[in-house]
Amino acid sequence: MTTILVTGGAGYIGSHACKILARAGYTPVAVDDLSLGWRDAVQFGPFEQADLLNRNLLDRIFAKHKPAAVMHFAALSDVGESMRDPGRYWRVNVGGSLNLIEAAVAADCKRFVFSSTCATYGEQDGVMLDENSEQHPINAYGASKRAVEAMLENFGTVHGLKSVIFRYFNVAGASPDGDIGEHHRPETHLIPLMLDAIDGKRPALTIFGDDYDTPDGTCIRDYVHVMDLVEAHVRGLKWLQDGKDSRVFNLGTGKGFSVKQVVEYSAIVTNRHVPINKGPRRPGDATALISGSTRAEIELGWRPVNSTLETMIKDAWRWHQTGQYTQ
Ligand code: UFG
Repeated sequence: MTTILVTGGAGYIGSHACKILARAGYTPVAVDDLSLGWRDAVQFGPFEQADLLNRNLLDRIFAKHKPAAVMHFAALSDVGESMRDPGRYWRVNVGGSLNLIEAAVAADCKRFVFSSTCATYGEQDGVMLDENSEQHPINAYGASKRAVEAMLENFGTVHGLKSVIFRYFNVAGASPDGDIGEHHRPETHLIPLMLDAIDGKRPALTIFGDDYDTPDGTCIRDYVHVMDLVEAHVRGLKWLQDGKDSRVFNLGTGKGFSVKQVVEYSAIVTNRHVPINKGPRRPGDATALISGSTRAEIELGWRPVNSTLETMIKDAWRWHQTGQYTQ
């Protein structure tokens, strides 16, 4: 069986990637320091507890498992926090990725799938973003991810590392089986926070700004179901296994929903009232981020079949009610 090293494999997206890799016949080795991830989320293959800043440990993991490729999800991803403590984002996201990429090259593991973000594009005033759009990140999180993209390009040129970079739009939902889902600590994402407000785990959802230049004044995002997202990763992996060149793909649906629209859909799907407060804008938030690309569909044959707002909220709600990790 082909082994794939999955960093952040105990986290939200990484655990779903392990699930779909196992289903596709690979052996996913989850590598996670458990600072944000959950041991309970590692259900589909071996586990190695490791901090990516520990290069010696990474070398030992590569030697032990001899992976054919790396899927790199481990990162800090809180836009707001990145604007309070940018150094942490450069140290963990950029420093950790550098160690990992160097360890991979040293072990002659030269296929690399990287979890990047549409936050690398920054503010572009309502333009649909495609892979050739300029990258002007407006927060340290996006800047740290863009730096890793540049790193991969350099290692490609010099060491022959082949990479598939996925720039995610807003990932949401959970495995429809209800076995794994989204559980951040602390939670900062719109949909899980809203579900908390719906079932009384927090008093209300605060809407971060309703004076943006959008039809209802709230920010617009392009939401993609986590199962669709990780399915694209398996296709990206096959792309590299077929010997194709390094490539960047956006992963979004091309449809944008405002924060208020997400609130309205959630009320309908859960059949519950959503208590909301109005708050100030959150630093680092772009007005609208929507994918204007069909490259992943054309070149990878990817179809985001689960990515309706209704399915994402329904699956997130199921997990919210029955799931949640304890360790
Ligand atoms: N929002 C609120 N209230 C909240 C939380 C969020 O109004 O309590 C709003 C945000 O201001 C934003 C939208 O809901 O307009 C979505 O916010 P999230 O925090 O859920 O997601 P972000 O768009 O900030 O960021 C997420 C990931 C990043 C990724 C980015 C790409 O956290 O890793 O999507 O857009 F890069």
